[in-house]
Amino acid sequence: MKIAIGNDHAGTEYKLAIVGLLKSKNIEVVNYGTDGTDSVDYPDFVHPVAMDVEQGNVDMGIVICGTGNGATMTINKHQGIRGALCWNKELTALARTHNDANILSLPARFIALPQALEMVETFLKTSFEGGRHERRIEKIPCI
Ligand code: RB5
Repeated sequence: MKIAIGNDHAGTEYKLAIVGLLKSKNIEVVNYGTDGTDSVDYPDFVHPVAMDVEQGNVDMGIVICGTGNGATMTINKHQGIRGALCWNKELTALARTHNDANILSLPARFIALPQALEMVETFLKTSFEGGRHERRIEKIPCI
């Protein structure tokens, strides 16, 4: 499995911990995020994640900013992206089972780090249910 990850300065600490978790599982990581804490603009660091997921260069993506909103708004401008802003593992599981989310967006300033790591694990191991949800996600893109 290969995961692209992107974050702004608000997400650096969580990103580094998530990269550690993914590498411990032998998952390949493409890191587009800042590794620093100087203030940066989140679109510059999450558009590349969306492009990699859209183009099939990676299996899934993870984006992190302070609220998760800016990063989520940015990635969902890409037609092939179903980015889900989640703040607990239940929402994360439903984003996979019902929405086939291909990018998980984390609000670093509003969730604890252990919770974020648990959500990443849930995102990776949960499959799309298909069925009626397939029809619905097919209707999401603007024609
Ligand atoms: C950065 O201060 C903050 O605005 C950003 O991380 C994010 O929350 C934007 O939506």
